Amino acid sequence: MDLYQALRDRRSIRKYKPDPVPEEKLTRILDAARMAPSWSNLQCWKFIIVRDPHRKKILADSIPGTNPAARAVGKTAPAVVVLCADPRASGNHDGKDYYLLDAGLAMQQLMLAAYAEGLGTCWIAWFDEAKARAACDIPAEYRVVALSPLGVPVNQPSTRLRKEISEIVYKEEWGKPL
Ligand SMILES: Cc1cc2nc3c(=O)[nH]c(=O)nc-3n(C[C@H](O)[C@H](O)[C@H](O)COP(=O)(O)O)c2cc1C
Repeated sequence: MDLYQALRDRRSIRKYKPDPVPEEKLTRILDAARMAPSWSNLQCWKFIIVRDPHRKKILADSIPGTNPAARAVGKTAPAVVVLCADPRASGNHDGKDYYLLDAGLAMQQLMLAAYAEGLGTCWIAWFDEAKARAACDIPAEYRVVALSPLGVPVNQPSTRLRKEISEIVYKEEWGKPL
């Protein structure tokens, strides 16, 4: 698949078919995730793939019902990715904690690879960390950074609008149009 097409057309998916995620696809997706750049190549991330209905139910309960992705985790997606990161295994500089970026970059690679495999994902940040931690026995030193359903989308939403380049890019100095 063309990288630019994936970058343009990947969407957050909140409705899934019940079809299981094939192991070979999952392996390729996780392989893509682990190749992400990270602070000093420390790779502070862990990914937990959850298919067990009991654990999925606890994860679903960690997400407020008003979160638009709540049903995807509880009801429709065959698998859930739990993204964890160890802040001590990354770095920080000038008040910026890089474990979140490390984990985010890996997750972005996972999401793009999933798209290339015909699978959907949706970054979920709005959840109760303690409940999600309990669902998978995650050690206290790890932060639970994100959840994502993983599975075959019911449909592929059309490309979502973004800000124009002229609105977000300057030339040489702040405020000077490109
Ligand atoms: C850091 C972050 C947190 C997000 N949290 C949620 C969430 O809790 N629930 C949800 O439904 N979508 C969540 N999203 C998905 C965004 O709503 C989505 O990426 C955005 O609306 C753009 O749509 P697209 O991904 O389909 O292009 C999150 C995305 C990011 C990057």
